[in-house]
Amino acid sequence: HMKVPSVQELAKKKLVTIPSRYVRDDQDRSIATSNYKQVPVIDMQRLINSNDHDFINLELNKLHFAAKDWVVEKMKHETKKFFDLPLKEKKFEQSSGDIDGFGQLFVVSDEQKLDWADLFYLKTSPTYLRKPIFSKLYLSLRETIEEYTEEIKELSMKVLKLLGKALGIDEEEVKSVFEEGMQSMRMNYYPPCPQPNKVMGLTPHLDATCLTILLQANETQGLQIRKDGIWIPIEPLPNAFIVNVGDAFEIFSNGIYRSIEHRSVVSSEKERISVATFQSPRLDGLLGPSSSLVTVDNPPKFKNIGVTEYYKGFFTRELVGKSYILSNE
Ligand code: SIN
Ligand code: FE2
Repeated sequence: HMKVPSVQELAKKKLVTIPSRYVRDDQDRSIATSNYKQVPVIDMQRLINSNDHDFINLELNKLHFAAKDWVVEKMKHETKKFFDLPLKEKKFEQSSGDIDGFGQLFVVSDEQKLDWADLFYLKTSPTYLRKPIFSKLYLSLRETIEEYTEEIKELSMKVLKLLGKALGIDEEEVKSVFEEGMQSMRMNYYPPCPQPNKVMGLTPHLDATCLTILLQANETQGLQIRKDGIWIPIEPLPNAFIVNVGDAFEIFSNGIYRSIEHRSVVSSEKERISVATFQSPRLDGLLGPSSSLVTVDNPPKFKNIGVTEYYKGFFTRELVGKSYILSNE
């Protein structure tokens, strides 16, 4: 244990330049811009001493959501920080045959058209699916991703149970298919484009997942969904997620809930950043129409398939999810 001088004493010397040991060129000094949210304030003193149950519940709720909210803000901040790094520091390239990393998805040929976007894709859960680059992420990014994806997992399960309930599916069945499911995330960066009308930020597609929880991480509009053949722009709302039903849930709901076609367009002036978290069924399970929804009058619209096989089919056929297992194929 080495002895170091008292900084208070050091300061009294009124030095012009500080000793080099205190020079920290290794630190990131950028701070949040004004649109970064202020921290929520909880009155702990009053909370602890209060006998008013309504007040306690209200404050506890605030505390609960403040913690969750904070994670979301951190995720937005870290995503921007990552894409703002000089290229040589975004050194988490995709290795061949692997989509985890920084790059583009599904580039299968030299002729293939490319999206006007950079992506950073990671499998996050279960943890054995994480690739070595995951543990190589710098601390603030890795920790934020871990916290954020944990929250999104919980949120997704809540939404899935609610959707299941609305469909009349037994909660145990929802849990058995989706709990401990596969989760991955994709951070998207769409730079401004001099000819925005000539490019596509993200090619129209359906998500193969059961749910996609999309965070529009800045104010730039770009997401569009196709409804009745018409592309509808989705405004980025502050403090809101977009929940997309994907192919796997369409299959589970026996076609009652349709997965939605969507794409992303870009702007000539502003960058756009989004974070998509994909929640999928558990890999060692089976995917097929819920047994509660299949009756004599409602035959299954899809075959049952092992989840692992379903994803293998998806990744080898590029972005073709449910059509792979339509039962009348
Ligand atoms: C996605 O298709 O999952 C993301 C689209 C977007 O950036 O809004
Ligand atoms: Fe998508």
